Amino acid sequence: MKVGIVGAGMVGSAAGYAIALRGTAAQLVFVDHRPELARAQAEDIAHAVPFASTTLVSAGDYTDLDSAAVVILAAGVAQKPAESRLDLLSRNAEVFRDVIGRVLTAAPEAILLVATNPVDIMTRIATELSGLPPARVIGSGTILDTARFRHLIGRHLGIAPQFVHAYVLGEHGDSEVLAWQSARAGGLSLPDCAAQMRVALTDGLRAEIDAGVRNAAYTIIEGKGATWYGIGAGLERIVRAIARNEQAILTVSVVAPEIAGQSGVALSVPRIVGARGVTGDLFPDLSGAEATALAASARLLSDTFAALAL
Ligand code: LAC
Repeated sequence: MKVGIVGAGMVGSAAGYAIALRGTAAQLVFVDHRPELARAQAEDIAHAVPFASTTLVSAGDYTDLDSAAVVILAAGVAQKPAESRLDLLSRNAEVFRDVIGRVLTAAPEAILLVATNPVDIMTRIATELSGLPPARVIGSGTILDTARFRHLIGRHLGIAPQFVHAYVLGEHGDSEVLAWQSARAGGLSLPDCAAQMRVALTDGLRAEIDAGVRNAAYTIIEGKGATWYGIGAGLERIVRAIARNEQAILTVSVVAPEIAGQSGVALSVPRIVGARGVTGDLFPDLSGAEATALAASARLLSDTFAALAL
C-alpha cells in the first residue's frame, strides 16, 4: 500500500518513521511546501528502513501521491505553549483550502487521514472541501487521548495498557470526555480490577488521571515545544487498521449526521476502521455526567465551526 504524508514537520515525520519501522506501508511519500525538508525527512527515515522493514521512502510533489491509498494531512501550524488547539483554526483552515484539492487530483481514491489541529474541525473542513463520503475522511481524534487514558490507568493498576479498555470521547481538546463508566481492565470493571490488584481507585486518583490526560499536550509542549511520538504512533495505528482491513475499534473523528445532539459535527467515539475507512461506530454506556459533557463537547465543536464562517 502507498501512503502519502503532506506536512513533513514533527508530526508527519514521526508518523512516517512509525510506518517505516513497522513496515505498515510498502511505499511512503513525503510532500511539503518546504521540499528540502521533505527530502531530508525521507532520506533520514530511509536510513532507518534497513534495520526494520522494506518500505520505500521518498519525497516529491503532489503528483507523486498518485494512487496513494491513504494520505496523512499533517500540514499546518502547531500549538505554542499555552495555546489551545482551537486557536490554530483560521491559519490551518487556509492551509487545507490549498492542500485538499491538490491531494485529490493526484490520489482521488485515497482515504484522507487528518492530523492537523484542531483535528475535529479540520476533519469537518476536509470533508466539506473534498466532497468525499465522511467514512473516507478520518481525523486522528482522541486516539492519542485514549492511549494516554489507558497508559495512566494501566500504570496505576500495574497492568499493560493494551489490556485496559477505556475510551476518551468528543473533542480532541479541552472539552474531551473520559468515559470512566464503561472502562474495564482484564474483563473486569475498574473498581473490581483495582480491588483484585489491591490498589485504591479513589476520586482523587480519577481526578489526577483526568488532569494527566487532558493536560498532557500542554505539559509536553512546555518541555519540548511540541508533541510528536504519541500522535505519530497513533497515526500509524490507524493506517495499519486500513492497510490490513482490520475492522479495528479506534476512537477516531469523522463527520456524523447526528451525534450527541449535534448534526454534521466531527468528534470521536469508538469507530470500526478497515480498508474502506470508517464502517461503523459504537456508542459507549455513559453516566449522566459523561453524556452531558459529551453533548457540551459536541456543541462547542459545532459553535466553533459555525463561527469560522467558511
Ligand atoms: C497532542 C496533539 C497531537 O495531543 O494535539 O499531543
